[in-house]
Amino acid sequence: MAAETPSMLGASAQRLTQASTLSNALGAGLSSGASRAISLWLGGCAAWVFSMVVLGGMTRLTRSGLSMTEWKFTGEKAPSSQEDWEAEFGKYRASPEYHKVNRGMSLEEFKFIYWMEYAHRMWGRALGVVFAVPAVYFAARGWVNGPLARRLGLLFAMGATQGFVGWWMVRSGLQETKTEWDVPRVSPYRLAAHLTSAAIIYGTLMWTSLSLAYPTSAAAALSANSAMTAGVNALRRWAHPVAGLVAITALSGAFVAGMDAGHAYNTFPLMDGRLIPEEYWALPGWRNAFENTAAVQLHHRALALCTLGAVTALWARARTLPLPPSSRLLVHAMMGMAALQVALGITTLLTYVPPSLGTAHQAGALTLLTLALGLLHTLRRGPVAAAKSGMASQLGTPAALAAVLAVGTAVTQYS
Ligand code: HEM
Repeated sequence: MAAETPSMLGASAQRLTQASTLSNALGAGLSSGASRAISLWLGGCAAWVFSMVVLGGMTRLTRSGLSMTEWKFTGEKAPSSQEDWEAEFGKYRASPEYHKVNRGMSLEEFKFIYWMEYAHRMWGRALGVVFAVPAVYFAARGWVNGPLARRLGLLFAMGATQGFVGWWMVRSGLQETKTEWDVPRVSPYRLAAHLTSAAIIYGTLMWTSLSLAYPTSAAAALSANSAMTAGVNALRRWAHPVAGLVAITALSGAFVAGMDAGHAYNTFPLMDGRLIPEEYWALPGWRNAFENTAAVQLHHRALALCTLGAVTALWARARTLPLPPSSRLLVHAMMGMAALQVALGITTLLTYVPPSLGTAHQAGALTLLTLALGLLHTLRRGPVAAAKSGMASQLGTPAALAAVLAVGTAVTQYS
């Protein structure tokens, strides 16, 4: 390779600085201690959201989610006296779920499902405090620059909207069912929206935390090593669609959960003795894909197997490429987690979705998404592409904030 002249060195140093400036916009002007503190705080908030998702899964799987029949943005007071409990229980006894599923339930049994839902709601509100108080403190110390302020504002709006989306979902389960035989449950569309927006909040927190902890992308740091840069570029082309497939599989899983579709066709690989069950086309048009138990479950199985195949292909490709150690480690972890998640999914189905396995399967999906996100972060683009996408990243946060506020307003109007 030809030796670099001083002017070439100047140009590559300038490109690196430009890359650092763009990728480090969130932490620009911060000392490394301040960046680390904010990164740790946001990583902690991401872990909190992870635990919220797990708690939400347990709430659903223990059929506790419809126990509280009212919602206030600022929070509900837990019953403290016998009279309070009787009043809460009275409201629940008027709900369709009590009549169709839990008729004859005792007050003690009601207390269990009430505390599950109460804990989920209060854990979410506590996260609001854990997010807002340090944000004010960091801002008062002058550690929050423009781009970081926009990102934190977006996260706060997403968190508040999530509360409304949660109640919008629960309300759908409190309505009378269409027929006498239907079991009351929340709309699968709303459950999928609630789970998806939780995953987006989690992903945004994780990405922001990682960007503060590792401001220089591996691609930028490696620009002197052309072989490894080529390896990173090649893997990135594969990693994006694979991460997208993991996300789509997880979304299809939300419909399996929303339809309670894990309580039918509890065999694998055949469904009712066939690869494609007879009921596959039971409903007309696109509704079939989202509201027909057979189709919803078959799609989730097929997508999961495609995901496993795609992660295996990514892993095999990575073995032939020169890569930074962090990217290689994450590809190995994704391979192991994808195999474990498929095994967990099959076991959950064969055992009729016990709460422990259902919750583990949900946590497994979020872990796989975390690894995919971590991998994409190590493979982030270097100087030239980052410069091209500078404009898009400037507009991205305000556009996303406007979209979140629009969704929040729409949900409030519709509730
Ligand atoms: C990459 C692989 C997979 C991913 C990412 C994934 C993801 C998910 C997600 C996110 C849910 C929703 C959980 C919830 O909201 O509680 C779910 C539910 C479910 N998945 Fe999977 N899944 C995978 C593989 C499989 C496989 C192979 C099977 C079985 C053949 C399976 C069976 C189920 C069942 C039965 C449910 C419903 C559980 C419930 O009611 O809570 N999954 N999946």
